[in-house]
Amino acid sequence: MSIESLYVKNFRNLTEQRISFNSNLNFIVGDNGSGKSSLLEAVFFLGHGKSFRTSKSDLVCHFDEDVFFLNVKDESSNSFGLSKGKEDVSFLIKKNGNRVSRLSELATDFAVQVVTPESFRLLSGGAKERRKFIDLGMFHVKHEFSSQWKIFSKILRQRNALLKNRFESKSYEYWTNEFVTYSKLLSELREKYCELVSSELTQWLKILLPELVETIDLSYYRGWSKSRELFDVLASQREKEFNQGFSVAGAQKFDFKFLIGGHSIEQKLSRGQQKLFLLALTFAQMKLIEKVKQVKPILLIDDIGAELDLSSRTRFKEAISTLSCQILITAIEQEAIKPLVFAENELKEYTMFHVKHGQILESK
Ligand SMILES: Nc1ncnc2c1ncn2[C@@H]1O[C@H](COP(=O)(O)OP(=O)(O)OP(=O)(O)O)[C@@H](O)[C@H]1O
Ligand SMILES: [Mg+2]
Repeated sequence: MSIESLYVKNFRNLTEQRISFNSNLNFIVGDNGSGKSSLLEAVFFLGHGKSFRTSKSDLVCHFDEDVFFLNVKDESSNSFGLSKGKEDVSFLIKKNGNRVSRLSELATDFAVQVVTPESFRLLSGGAKERRKFIDLGMFHVKHEFSSQWKIFSKILRQRNALLKNRFESKSYEYWTNEFVTYSKLLSELREKYCELVSSELTQWLKILLPELVETIDLSYYRGWSKSRELFDVLASQREKEFNQGFSVAGAQKFDFKFLIGGHSIEQKLSRGQQKLFLLALTFAQMKLIEKVKQVKPILLIDDIGAELDLSSRTRFKEAISTLSCQILITAIEQEAIKPLVFAENELKEYTMFHVKHGQILESK
């Protein structure tokens, strides 16, 4: 889907307004602190029910206000939105004017992907960041994943509680059996998904980093050794698990890494190349979501100017012209956007916005 317009009230520093977007490309330019990231955050919030900047949803409400409101109209005039007071425990969610109980009902056709300067954590941070990225894609692409992950998380909590209390008994055996079964199920799903991402990624690297496309390999860690059964790993680590009070192997330890000649991307690539790689990875995930869900994801890119030189931005332009989805891109300066702007004889349409003190205005 694409967003036809977005209504915001009391969200961060954004003034109350309704913003009409282009169904293709939207450039949002403004000074530091003007509200660019807040605008992308508002769109992301509607898709995910949370921010990409904070896990505390109260922080997105304007400092001086008690309730924030967000609402979008899509290209078929369906509307959906949410509001939340600082004191409230849950959201008030509405679809076409009617109240719905779950956020997931809100966002059935709304798949939002984001690339920000913080996305580098996917390369430099711990496994948790990478799991989050893969699991977000799996949520859309592998339908069984969500429910299996919920069951697995409960099993993991039970098993860890037993380990902490040094409770060796029939229930330890029971929870270990369950833990192994679900770890294997999740591992198979993730492995298949990683293979899909990897082959889709090749297509995008051909455009964004053609000089490296042949050299990048995906290395995947399922959470325990490739050559051993999880059951045997846990049996041999039994003493250690009881001492530490948590499960030392299993699906919760999943990680994936891309390597160049055995070295990490972070070691091998420059900052600009890393950004191109992150974009390629995001585009790959978006294409998978589009193929499986039959919906076009919306892409948010915060601060495109940082790191990318002119030739990288030209490659980026080529990539987004084949992506064919709605895109919102922010930059501090118009200069950073120039190489991306399509000339009149090129197909892609775009709209340019300027942000000042939380107000987003279309510039002609
Ligand atoms: N809850 C809030 N209520 C009101 N204002 C807020 C709130 N949270 C953040 N702000 C302010 O909103 C302003 C806009 O922040 P935002 O991160 O969107 O700016 P930006 O345009 O992305 O800037 P930069 O170019 O530095 O990334 C900041 O001045 C910030 O202090
Ligand atoms: Mg910002």
